[in-house]
Amino acid sequence: MLHTSIAHAINKQIIVELSAQMTYLSMAAWLEAKSLKGFAKWFKKQADEEHEHAMKFYHFVLERGGSVALTDIPVAQSVWKTPLDIAEGGLAAEQQNTANINSIFELARKHGDYATEVFLHWFIEEQVEEEALMTELIDRVTLTKNHDPALLILDKELGSRE
Ligand SMILES: [Fe+2]
Ligand SMILES: [Fe+2]
Repeated sequence: MLHTSIAHAINKQIIVELSAQMTYLSMAAWLEAKSLKGFAKWFKKQADEEHEHAMKFYHFVLERGGSVALTDIPVAQSVWKTPLDIAEGGLAAEQQNTANINSIFELARKHGDYATEVFLHWFIEEQVEEEALMTELIDRVTLTKNHDPALLILDKELGSRE
């Protein structure tokens, strides 16, 4: 059985993941409206991953005899200035998410909840990947120096993400 405080923290994390899903989808919509379809596809893929993360936590809570209580999901930002602005927003969200996951890990350790610790290993590794991915995107967008042809080449490349 999950300790109440851990169940509570994971429930909060489900909301964080769902809210990240909405943010990435909203970023995808903004990019798609600007005809940056490759960027949009890349962010939709990112949104799908956040949904998978939420579901991993969802199943874990239920498996451990906890209950899932989904309260309000914060409204996602829908307007950005540039693709760089979006990539920087993505990195900030991932860094915040890493901090959230680390604090659930600390809580699990404090309560001697080994199962939660082991479960969180996947997320800790995933966050390393997510931050690196978003940092690479910032670097590549920065390299285009807002030069449209370069941005279009990058757009084509991002559209090939599987
Ligand atoms: Fe996530
Ligand atoms: Fe993420």
